[in-house]
Amino acid sequence: MLEPKRKTDVASSSVGELEYRGFREFLEQACGIVLGENKQYLVSSRMKKVLSEFKLGTLTDLMHEMKAGRIRGLRERVIEAMTTNETSWFRDRMPFEALRTKILPELARQETKRLRIWSAACSSGQEPYSISMTVHEFQMFNPGLLTQEVEIIATDISPAILSAASRGVYDEPSLARGLSEERRRRYFERTPEGMRVTQSVRDRIQFRELNLLKSYALLGRFDVVFCRNVLIYFSEESKRDILERIAHTLNPGGYLFLGGSESVTNITDVFEMIKLDGTVVYKIKKKPHYTFS
Ligand SMILES: C[S@@+](CC[C@H](N)C(=O)[O-])C[C@H]1O[C@@H](n2cnc3c(N)ncnc32)[C@H](O)[C@@H]1O
Repeated sequence: MLEPKRKTDVASSSVGELEYRGFREFLEQACGIVLGENKQYLVSSRMKKVLSEFKLGTLTDLMHEMKAGRIRGLRERVIEAMTTNETSWFRDRMPFEALRTKILPELARQETKRLRIWSAACSSGQEPYSISMTVHEFQMFNPGLLTQEVEIIATDISPAILSAASRGVYDEPSLARGLSEERRRRYFERTPEGMRVTQSVRDRIQFRELNLLKSYALLGRFDVVFCRNVLIYFSEESKRDILERIAHTLNPGGYLFLGGSESVTNITDVFEMIKLDGTVVYKIKKKPHYTFS
């Protein structure tokens, strides 16, 4: 058996077994992401840039500095480098159709002053902006029907990605991913920095930093939650914990959307699966006791 290496030069792309184990543990505890076996090359290539940015020599130095907590922003930068920010406008299309054609009409009949939608793990903002555009389209095609104010809370673990998301400025390649010509004309304005989402679409959204592993107590209650394409990276245990705590944030009759390859099956039984307009959505089966953690 090979002796685990004590110190590893990440730039040379070899990560020793001990360092890899330590790094995996750190990542899962910090943000829930579970790295599979033999992903040393991934850690190696993603940490290369971080090491050079923070003028650190090895992965061992990096782990040491994160434990010591002396370098501001290091931990966040490491998490950011290890997360996938892949997203697009109206991703998978059907969830947004179901929101517009089934869920918003139902919520519009409720006697509440405000509807609240949570985009958990919103990445660079395409998801919450697509939700806001969907709300606008519903109002445009159904004048006078949705009288409630609609508030969208968009959260992510990464301060850097949230800062980009809240600016709402996009380049041509990202606009090309999922946006029709019509929506592009309706919801964007040209600025010197790039195409910016119009003020009225931005106004419905509040961006906040939130780690899904931590408490949701300050978020309040929601009518709809989008938690898409993030749980796929987590352990079964973290998925169950997060899904059950999301259930606590939902108002009675509230809806949860997951990503196309995600499901609650064999994880928790608090939701029932409903097929709506060619997509799957989850509703709470029974209301669990309301305790925030
Ligand atoms: C693949 S993107 C999904 C974006 C969007 N929901 C979609 O479906 O297009 C995953 C996002 O999850 C965020 N993320 C990863 N771990 C997280 C955690 N523990 N808490 C909150 N956000 C997290 C990442 O920063 C990233 O922006």
